[in-house]
Order: sequence, then structure tokens, then C-alpha cells
Amino acid sequence: MPKFLRLYIISALCLLLATLIFGLLATWAFLYPEIYNQFLPFYQLRPFHVSAALFWIITGSAASIVYYKNTLLIAKNKDNIIERLFIYLWLSTIAVIFLCYSMKKFGGREYWEFPPMLCIPLLVSWLLLILSYFNTPLGKGKHNKPMYIWMWSTGLFFFLITFIEQNLWQIPWFRYSYLREVTVQWKANGSMVGSWNQMLYGTSLYLMVKISGDESIANGKTAFFFYMLGLANLMFNWGHHIYNVPAASWIRDTSYIISMTEWIFFIRIIQGFKNKLDERKKFRHLITYRFIIAAEFWVFINLLLALAMSVPAINRYTHGTHITVAHAMGTTIGINTMILLASFTYILGLDCQSNLIKKIISICYWVSQYSLLIFWLSLIVAGVIKAYRTTAINLANFQEIMEPVIPVLKIGSFSGIGLVLGLGTIAVIYIYYGLNSKADVK
Ligand code: HEM
Repeated sequence: MPKFLRLYIISALCLLLATLIFGLLATWAFLYPEIYNQFLPFYQLRPFHVSAALFWIITGSAASIVYYKNTLLIAKNKDNIIERLFIYLWLSTIAVIFLCYSMKKFGGREYWEFPPMLCIPLLVSWLLLILSYFNTPLGKGKHNKPMYIWMWSTGLFFFLITFIEQNLWQIPWFRYSYLREVTVQWKANGSMVGSWNQMLYGTSLYLMVKISGDESIANGKTAFFFYMLGLANLMFNWGHHIYNVPAASWIRDTSYIISMTEWIFFIRIIQGFKNKLDERKKFRHLITYRFIIAAEFWVFINLLLALAMSVPAINRYTHGTHITVAHAMGTTIGINTMILLASFTYILGLDCQSNLIKKIISICYWVSQYSLLIFWLSLIVAGVIKAYRTTAINLANFQEIMEPVIPVLKIGSFSGIGLVLGLGTIAVIYIYYGLNSKADVK
């Protein structure tokens, strides 16, 4: 693997570590403002945490695609100058963004709260990535490509579109109307999630093919249907992000139905893979396999939550409570992070390490799964209590509303420590192997 790609993968894992640490600090800053407000207030920690989370997912997805693309093209050791430029520009912009946050220089919009000028280098570097990807036999031509290549290509392209759309607020016309700006913002954010889901689902499909040795998983009718559903989701499911702005009811209904279907199909694909996989192959890639199965579990339980909270009558109560946070973190940790860890396990060859290392990863895996479950449930309970007190008994005083919510959030913050320890140890082990192992793809 070329050095710059190794650096990119290690940087993605450092972003995961940063996400975890800032997340824990943000929780404490929220619960104990009297201590934290003096040096690291919540308003500063939140953008640190959320941007680190987004960059972990996007950087990790891009790293996986670049690595697998080079493997498929048998160009593992080829030095690609455009890819190198993309990586250096992308990573240095992220470093500048964190520097701005540390100097309390904000700007931008939700999830991207840095000075908007920094979107330019991000855009340029993504264009470089697209150039290097589409300028290969994988990105060109239409026929006979496994579905994971279609998904990667779609995800890369639509990230560009949604990133531009997300920045339309910089044109004054969009800002003249608050409603217009909010609608475009949240539409773009919803579609952007669809674009990185395409990159990640493509990656998990690729892993399933490699582990099972069965190419039909990525070529059959189910995979094609799943791809088309993913595409439909990317284009139309944003409706459930804008329930609170006035919109025609058919837009809400369509997006509600569409957004539930994609996940059901993802579960079906993983189940098909599980059924076909023989025990020997499973044990050869046990850690990778486990992370894929974890993603399936989290798709399932997040689907239940999303089904409920996307009903407009329920969304009226849940919106703006910790239930939305549970949805955002349940999916980005449970689904996105699990697929990325499956991918990095495979890339860094962790399935082939000593039994001791595998045992440690396995313990951390279970610690993080149980901690995430408690974390996720406590956010939902906190959200239900807040929704009840705000909407059903019409309390207006924030402190009064939050009184019974705070103890539940404290339980959540304890389980957050488990999550940080579990996922954090895994990240540190992977960084170590990223720095030291000579292993290439299996
Ligand atoms: C891989 C790990 C993680 C990812 C990907 C992640 C992702 C996210 C995302 C996307 C949001 C924005 C939610 C929204 O807009 O409503 C968020 C918010 C937040 N996260 Fe995390 N998170 C992670 C781990 C953690 C951990 C371990 C903790 C604490 C123990 C934590 C605490 C928080 C807090 C306090 C917020 C702000 C909630 C609010 O604004 O009310 N996160 N996280």
C-alpha cells in the first residue's frame, strides 16, 4: 500500500478517536456547564465532535474506495499523483478546520460550522478524488460492473452534488427567505447521508463478496434492486428531514415510504450472505464478519425507531428532542462506523493477527455493542420525557423540562465511557497496525 494511502487510513482512525473523545467531553460539558464553561463550553465541543464524526465517515469511506479500487485495478503500489493531492489537501483542510474551532472561529451551517471559505479546498480535493476514480476502467463504461462499483461511483458523484447544494446558502437569494434556506439545507443534508450510504453499502457488499468468494451477491437481481432503492432514497428520502417546514403531504408520504425500504433490503442482502457463507470462510474473517453483522443489527433497530419517528404525527413530538440525536448517532455509530471498521479490519489484515489481539478486539467489540445499546436507549428515554413535558404538559421553562431528563442523560454518559473505551481501543490497535504492519489486502 502506498505511504500516502496508509497515512489517509490512519488519519481516518484518528478522526474516529477524536469523535469519541470530543463526544464524551461534549456530554460532560452539557451536564456540568458550571465546570466546562470556563475552558471548553458545549457550543465549542459540539462542532468539534460532529465535524470529526462526519469527517471520520467520509474520510473512511473514501479511503476504503481508493484502496479497493487500487486492488481491483492491481495498482496497489502505483503512485497516483492526483490521489496524493486529494489526500493531502483533504487532510490539511480538516486540520485547519479544527484549528478554527479551537480559536472559536465558526461560520457555516449545522454539521459544517467552520468558516465557509474552507469549503473551497474541500470541494477541490473531492473533485481530484472524482477525477482519479472516474479516469479508470472502473469509473468508465456502463456494462457488467458489480453493484458495489455502481454504488461507489454513485456515492462519490452525489457527494459532490449534495456538498454543493449544502453550500447554496452562500448565494444571497437562498438566504433572503429563512424557509427556503432551511428547506434547502436539510434537503441537502438528507441526500448527503444517502450519498455516503451508497459508498458504505458498496463497501460492505464488496466485503461480503470477498469473504464468501461469491460474486453473485453483487450481481444478482436483489443487488440491482437494492442499488436502485438506494438511489431512490438518495434522491427522495430527504422529505423526512423537512417535516417541520410547510410542504405538500404527498412529498412527506413518498419520502416516508421510500426511506424505510432501503434498510429492509440491506438486511436481506446481509442475510443472504450469512446463509450462503460456510463456517470455514466465516472463521477466516471473523472480525470483519462480526462488524458486518453488527451493522445489520443496528440497521434493524434503527429501522424500528425511524419507522416510528417518521410518522408526521409522532415527529411533531420527537423533533428537537434527544430522540433525533439517538437516530443520528444510532445510525452513524451503529451502521456507518461498523461498516468502516469491517472495512479497515479487512484492509489492515486484523483477521490474521495473533489470537491475543483478536481476543482483545473481540472484548472491545462486545463492550462497544452493549454500551451503544444503553447509550442509544437512554437518549430515547430522555427524548420521550422531554417530548412529554414540552408538548403534552406544555411546560415552557427549560430547567423545569430538563429536571427528570438529566439523570437519564447521566446514565447515557456512563455508557458513553464504555463506548469510548471499546471503540477507542479498537481504533488505537488499528492505528498501531496501520503504522507497523506490512500486510496488504488478503
Ligand atoms: C463513532 C462515534 C460517534 C459518532 C459517529 C457520533 C455522531 C454524532 C452525530 C452525527 C451527532 C449530531 C446529532 C444531531 O444532529 O442531532 C452527534 C451529537 C452528539 N454526540 Fe455523538 N457520535 C459518536 C460518539 C459519541 C460519544 C461516545 C458521545 C458521548 C459519550 C457522544 C456525544 C454526543 C453529544 C453530547 C452530541 C450533541 C447532542 C446534542 O446536540 O444535543 N457521541 N454525534
